[in-house]
Amino acid sequence: MSSQMQRRDFFKVTSAFLAGSSAITQPGGAVQERAALPVVISSANGMKAAAKAMESLRAGGKPLDAVIAGVNIVEDDPNDSSVGYGGLPNEEGEVELDASVMDGPTCRCGAVGALKHIRNPSKVARLVMERTDHIFLVGEGALKFALRMGFEKENLLTEESRRKWLEWRSKLSARDAWLTEEESGTEFGEVIRHYGTISCLGVDAAGNIAGTTTTSGLSWKIPGRVGDSPIIGAGLYVDNDVGAAGSTGRGEANIKVCGAHAVVELMRQGKSPEQACLAVLERVVRTTKEKRLLGKDGRPAFQLNFYAVNKKGEFGGAALYPSRFCVNTGAESRLVNSAYLFKRAQA
Ligand code: GLY
Repeated sequence: MSSQMQRRDFFKVTSAFLAGSSAITQPGGAVQERAALPVVISSANGMKAAAKAMESLRAGGKPLDAVIAGVNIVEDDPNDSSVGYGGLPNEEGEVELDASVMDGPTCRCGAVGALKHIRNPSKVARLVMERTDHIFLVGEGALKFALRMGFEKENLLTEESRRKWLEWRSKLSARDAWLTEEESGTEFGEVIRHYGTISCLGVDAAGNIAGTTTTSGLSWKIPGRVGDSPIIGAGLYVDNDVGAAGSTGRGEANIKVCGAHAVVELMRQGKSPEQACLAVLERVVRTTKEKRLLGKDGRPAFQLNFYAVNKKGEFGGAALYPSRFCVNTGAESRLVNSAYLFKRAQA
């Protein structure tokens, strides 16, 4: 840990992290809940997704069917500019989508990266898993595969996302993804980009686990950029013996630490979901050395979230800066606070 990042500087705020149907009040007033199954958690933009996934699990659906049905709602939503249809495009105005799925019971997974023209990349990722000997298809190959599987090609750019892209394009400045040699390492910077994404994890009544992470990725990215979401072990990881983890936020920071896999391994070693997420975020802080990615106080100038659930139904979320995530242990989805390392984002 760098001198700028002494542990005492971290604001480790602990939030609700046990799933369950029945809340109990702890001494001191903190509310915790008994672990119970089934449970679904997702990023904060997944209120409807988690409710849909829970409905499916309560009807006896398989966890993978449940979480994919959930995120399809967000992929289809033109008003979520970080996922699927209506997602913000790359620097050339084209929407490129990334997604992964992972099924605990069968230990199988699939992913697509830089997929154009298909609004539900999570469904295509599932077919890569089920209908090929491969795990990860990208670009033209992923599109050809989707078309052969019967998906329809469409324009994913909505009027609103086109308007936002034109606004960015017309003000094109140092805030694009290209770096001069000087910019690549020397200046303190502020990274204001849209990373979006939905990650959704579900555990059924028998303790079987599945997850999916789906995104339009970084706005205004260089065409072909693939983030963490479709990378098994970074944006998503599921181990049916232990639990699952997913991530949203700056993918480049997550890929370097193989975040979702690291969270699951820490849960395997006995950490709670929330403790595991926090420990991996500390690794992210240690591995972020480029000054352009740091605020003037040396803290990361971006956001990164992890979400995790274990086989018992205990869940947790943590982020670099204050954030929330979505939980569903019954009919209604609700937002809970994530734990976090730093209290304030940098100006
Ligand atoms: N976490 C989403 C991305 O970086 O693409």
